[in-house]
Amino acid sequence: MPSHPRHRAATPSIDDAAPPGEREGHGERDVGTAVRAVEPPDPADLATDLQGIHKSFGKAHVLNGVDLQIPRGVIAGFLGPNGSGKSTTIRVLLGLLRADSGTATVLGRDAWRDAVDAHRHLAYVPGDVNLWPGLTGGECIDLLCRMRGGTREGAVAELTERFQLDPRKKSRAYSKGNRQKVALIAALASDAELLVLDEPTSGLDPLMEREFQEVVRQRRAEGVSVLLSSHILSEVEQLCDTVAIIREGSVVEQGRLEDMRHLTRVTIDVITAHDPALLDDSMDLGELQIHEMAEGFHITGQVEPAALQDMLPGLHSLHLRQLHVAPASLEELFMRHYRAEPHGEAGQAAGPGGVVGVETRAPGKPAKPDPS
Ligand SMILES: Nc1ncnc2c1ncn2[C@@H]1O[C@H](COP(=O)(O)OP(=O)(O)OP(=O)(O)O)[C@@H](O)[C@H]1O
Ligand SMILES: [Mg+2]
Repeated sequence: MPSHPRHRAATPSIDDAAPPGEREGHGERDVGTAVRAVEPPDPADLATDLQGIHKSFGKAHVLNGVDLQIPRGVIAGFLGPNGSGKSTTIRVLLGLLRADSGTATVLGRDAWRDAVDAHRHLAYVPGDVNLWPGLTGGECIDLLCRMRGGTREGAVAELTERFQLDPRKKSRAYSKGNRQKVALIAALASDAELLVLDEPTSGLDPLMEREFQEVVRQRRAEGVSVLLSSHILSEVEQLCDTVAIIREGSVVEQGRLEDMRHLTRVTIDVITAHDPALLDDSMDLGELQIHEMAEGFHITGQVEPAALQDMLPGLHSLHLRQLHVAPASLEELFMRHYRAEPHGEAGQAAGPGGVVGVETRAPGKPAKPDPS
């Protein structure tokens, strides 16, 4: 083992190990008023609790009052466009950066003041993993595990096998995905109560992504809390219980994915035998798109969940041949937060996927004859 590898290359865990006094020296400012939820959750039930976090770098206001509460025992997705402040928020949470104002608590401890103690109970994987180039992958894993503290019995060998990592290679020879595997194995093998994962799978292939998801689900079942920053919407959709969206340094949406879905329009896709123009005025199909096809009438669009109930008798009377109702996908829910308007306003939600080239007409009007 080379002497003092920690002085050669920076890794997230090395950062983690640095005492607060040795980290970035940003001037202290007055602690601002924390923004509190109407019914604040019990702090003991929270893995992380950020309130009113502000952070500037020079004149750039990067975090503008971030509130982020993650209940214990859940997998929480953290989404947002490039540069919106995800990694900066995570660095505040890890005590690697000092917030200008606001309060940051992680596992019941002050993220800055009690960082060393907090790090005994959490593990962190960044998107961009730097390792000690002269050490093998196995040596890097051992070192990362020893720096952290407790490791699960037999977990390193099991995860090394599972992620198909050759631990004998020097880490300088690893691809990006293999470097990520090293950091993931060390974090997932730990007995941490909280896993903080900042885009941990951006370099993994789909098979490894699946393994990652399975292990993270196992950890959740064992009571571990997970903060997962990701640009991979399918990963978030499949894995996360709660989601927070950050945009321009503020969390604009936060909660259970299922609750968010209930607030969002559902996509319907129906084929009827009879023409919806036959419906009387009381059976309003709203803004649905109607297209006459050889085998009937194709009706698609998005409706409020409450309106669906009123619509069904009318659709039923048209002799249903096919009925498909789907909740909004994560993409539909969140794309509007990603699309920046010129004045910084969120754009409209993306249209329903898979409904392309549909000719439209106002409900109740006769369909145009099919040109084909
Ligand atoms: N140490 C720093 N000094 C100056 N500016 C910084 C520093 N760290 C981050 N920033 C700026 O803060 C903003 C937010 O960066 P951050 O890395 O938090 O974004 P992100 O949401 O993680 O983006 P991505 O999805 O690309 O990873 C960016 O404009 C970035 O340039
Ligand atoms: Mg980032």
